[in-house]
Amino acid sequence: MKKTVRLKMLKLHKLAVICLFAGICLSGCSKQADNQEKTSIRIGVSLYRGDDIFINNIRSELEREAKSYEQETGIKVNLDIQDAKGSQHIQNSQVERFISLGCDVLCINPVDRMDASSMIDQAMTAEVPVVFFNRQPVEEDMNRWDQLYYLGVDPKESGILQAGIVEKYYKENPEQLDLNGNGVISYVLLEGESSHQDALIRTEWSIQTLKDRGVPIEKITGGIANWERSQASALMEQWLKKYPGEIELVICNNDDMALGAIDAVKREGASGISVVGIDGVESGLEAVKEGTMIGTVSSNKEQYAKVMFSILSDKAMGRELDPELELENGKYYRCPQTVKEQE
Ligand code: BGC
Repeated sequence: MKKTVRLKMLKLHKLAVICLFAGICLSGCSKQADNQEKTSIRIGVSLYRGDDIFINNIRSELEREAKSYEQETGIKVNLDIQDAKGSQHIQNSQVERFISLGCDVLCINPVDRMDASSMIDQAMTAEVPVVFFNRQPVEEDMNRWDQLYYLGVDPKESGILQAGIVEKYYKENPEQLDLNGNGVISYVLLEGESSHQDALIRTEWSIQTLKDRGVPIEKITGGIANWERSQASALMEQWLKKYPGEIELVICNNDDMALGAIDAVKREGASGISVVGIDGVESGLEAVKEGTMIGTVSSNKEQYAKVMFSILSDKAMGRELDPELELENGKYYRCPQTVKEQE
C-alpha cells in the first residue's frame, strides 16, 4: 500500500474513533438531560370570565394547590392566569401566547364549549396537553387526542340533589312552601347560559326528580339570567311585579342567581318566598346559614382544584397520571357534591 493511501486510511480511522466517542458522549449527555427532573413548570390558565363567582372560587383553590406543591416538592410553578372576558377570540390568542411562552400544559375554562376545536388544533400541533374545566367541550372534540382532559361536576347529580333539598323542606314544612295552601308549589326558574351543559341538565333533572317524587309543583315562568346575580335580580323584580303574591319557590341553576333573586325579594318587600341554589360558593353558604336560602348543592372545590392540579403537574412533569383518580374513559373527572341546607 502506498504511503499516502495508508496515511489517509489512518486519518479516516482516527476520525471514525473520534466520531464514535463523541456520539457516545452526546447520547449519554442527552439521556442524562432526559432523566433529569424539571425544576420548574409553566401552566397557562384561561378563564372564560374572571368575574364569575364560582370560577373565582376554583381559581383561589388552584392557586393554593400550586403554592403547597411548590412547598412540598421544591419545584417552581409558574401559574399564568388570564381572563378571556367572555370572548373566544381573546381566549384563542391567549392559548397561542401560552404556547409561544413554552407552557408545559394548558388549563382552559372555554368561553364557547362548542368551539374548542381551534384551541385543540394549536395544542395538538405544539404537543401541549390540555385540561378543560367547568364548560365541557363536545365529545367529538374531546375524542380528538388522548392528551385532552375534562373536570367538572355531574349536572344530573346537581339537579337530583337540588330536588332533594326542596322535597325534604316540603315534607318538613309544607306550609312554608305552599304559602297559599292550595296544595301546589308555584315556582319560577332562573337558568344559566342556554348553551352550558350545567344549565340544561340541572334544570331537566331538578324538575323531573321533583315530579317523580310526587312533589306537587307548577311553573309560573322562567328565564335565562346567564349565571349572574344582577340579571337574575332584574328578572325576579319583573316577575314579582307581574305575579304579585303568587311565587312560592325560586329554583336557580346556581347560587349567584339565587342571591340575585333574594336581592329582588328584599327590594320589593316580598316575604316567605323560598330560594334554592347550586354551587356552594361562600356567599351562597352564608345565605343558607342566614336562612335566606333553603339550601344549595355544594361542590367540593378543594377536591376539584386538587385533582385539576394533580393532572396539570403530572402532565407538565411528563409523568403518568395518578391511577387513583380513576378517570372516566381515561379523561373525565366529576367532582363530588354534597347538600347544604338549613339546620
Ligand atoms: C356554575 C356557575 C358558573 C358557570 C360558569 C356553572 O357550573 O354553577 O356558577 O357561573 O358554571 O361556567
